[in-house]
Amino acid sequence: TYVIAQPCVDVMDKACIEECPVDCIYEGGRMLYIQPDECVDCGACEPVCPVEAIYYEDDLPQQWSDYTRVNAEFFTELGSPGGAAKTGPLAVDHPVVAALPPQPA
Ligand code: F3S
Ligand code: F3S
Repeated sequence: TYVIAQPCVDVMDKACIEECPVDCIYEGGRMLYIQPDECVDCGACEPVCPVEAIYYEDDLPQQWSDYTRVNAEFFTELGSPGGAAKTGPLAVDHPVVAALPPQPA
């Protein structure tokens, strides 16, 4: 799966949303999250992010290695909604993200 990492926090450019053919990029309160079971690894989102927040999971920089878990755990209760258009903005964040000071730090 692809993963959104910390550079998205408090930026939320959303260019990535337009590129995703399966609408699996969901809007939280301070960043966006990729639903790992819905992502088809097409990679279309990665080059359009202006702050380079998106990585294939195996290519995540070490300092953001937590974000594979952060993206996955965001969907623990939500499950697999089958498209972000159905849920709309969710206005909540993973605890790791919620605890961050205003970004960029
Ligand atoms: Fe975030 Fe980049 Fe998308 S800042 S919303 S991952 S385009
Ligand atoms: Fe969508 Fe990016 Fe995955 S465009 S399918 S989230 S690689």
